[in-house]
Amino acid sequence: MNDKTTEAEHIRILADLSEIEDIKVLERAQSLLSDARSIGCIAALEEHNHNVQYLTDPIREKYIDFLDLAPSDDVLEIGSSMGQHTRKIAKRCRSVNALEVVEFQAKFSKLWCSQDGLHNVHVTAGGASGRLPYDDDAFDVVVSNYVLEWCAGRSQDDPDEFHQAVLKEIRRVLRPGGRLFLSTKNRFAFKYLLGAEDEHLGIRFGSALPRLIQRRVAAKADLGHPTGYLHSWRELRKHLRSAGFADLRPLFAFPDARYPLFMGRPCDFSTSSFFSSKPVKLGRRDRILAKLPDGLRLALSNSIIFLAKKEPTL
Ligand SMILES: C[S@@+](CC[C@H](N)C(=O)[O-])C[C@H]1O[C@@H](n2cnc3c(N)ncnc32)[C@H](O)[C@@H]1O
Repeated sequence: MNDKTTEAEHIRILADLSEIEDIKVLERAQSLLSDARSIGCIAALEEHNHNVQYLTDPIREKYIDFLDLAPSDDVLEIGSSMGQHTRKIAKRCRSVNALEVVEFQAKFSKLWCSQDGLHNVHVTAGGASGRLPYDDDAFDVVVSNYVLEWCAGRSQDDPDEFHQAVLKEIRRVLRPGGRLFLSTKNRFAFKYLLGAEDEHLGIRFGSALPRLIQRRVAAKADLGHPTGYLHSWRELRKHLRSAGFADLRPLFAFPDARYPLFMGRPCDFSTSSFFSSKPVKLGRRDRILAKLPDGLRLALSNSIIFLAKKEPTL
C-alpha cells in the first residue's frame, strides 16, 4: 500500500496479504489512515463513519474476560482487524502479536495501539496462506474471534483441510499447556435451518445444507470458491482434537458472540432470568432460540466458542 507510513504504525509486512484491488476502497482506506494520524483513530472512524459501533461497542469485548489473561502472558491475536480488541488485550498481558491479512487494517491497528500509549504490540500484515509467521512455542494464549469462518476464503485449498492446517499451526505456536480461545459461526445456526441467506455462500440455508448439496448449488449458480466456511459444534470439536487440543470447554453466547448479551457456560444460561433481567429487543428467531431446550439451544446457537489447551504431547 503506497502511503506515508509513520514510526507509530510500523508493522511487518508479509507476502501472503490480501491486496485491496478496488481503487475507491483503497483511496478511502488511505484517507482514513491519514486522518487517523492527524486527528486520532476514534475521531477519524467517526469522521469517515467507518464501522464505528462495530469497532467501539464495549459489548463486543466481553470475550476478553474469558481469556483469563495474566500480566506475564504473550498473546497472539489472529484476525485483529483495526486493532479494536488488540488495544484492550494489550493492557492485560505482557505482549500481543496481532496478525491481520489486510495491510491497511494492520497499519490502523498499530497506529491505534500507539495512540493509546501501548508499546507491547507487534503487528504483522499477512496470514492468507494459513501459515503463522511465528516460532514454535511462542505464545501462552492464541485468540481468534470470528475469523476462522473467513480465513479459508483466500485459498483455493479445501476449506476443511485449510482449517485443520490453521489449527495445527495454532497448536505449534502455543507453549505446552497454552490456551486457545476460538469463536466462529455455527453452520447449523437456527436462522440458517429456517432458510436465512448465508453470507458465506450466498445461498439460503447455505452452510446448513449437506456439503455435497452446497457444492452442487454453488457450482450451478457459478458462485466460485466459498468466501466462508462454517462448522457444527461436533465438527469443530473433532478438528480441535485431531489438531492436538485437549480440555475443550464450550461457551454459549447469546444472541451471538459478536454482540453477546450473555456469554458463559451453557449450563449457566437461563431463559427466564435472561428475559427478566434484560429488557432487550431480539428478533423472532432469537427469541425462539432462547426458549429451546438446553441441548438444542446450544446445538442451534448462532456462534460456537471453544476454550482449549495445547495438549503437551500428541
Ligand atoms: C470478522 S473480523 C473479526 C475481527 C476481530 N477479531 C473482532 O472480533 O472484532 C475478521 C478479521 O480477520 C481477518 N482475517 C481473515 N482471514 C485472515 C487470515 N487468514 N489471517 C489473518 N487475518 C485474517 C479479516 O481481514 C478481518 O479483519
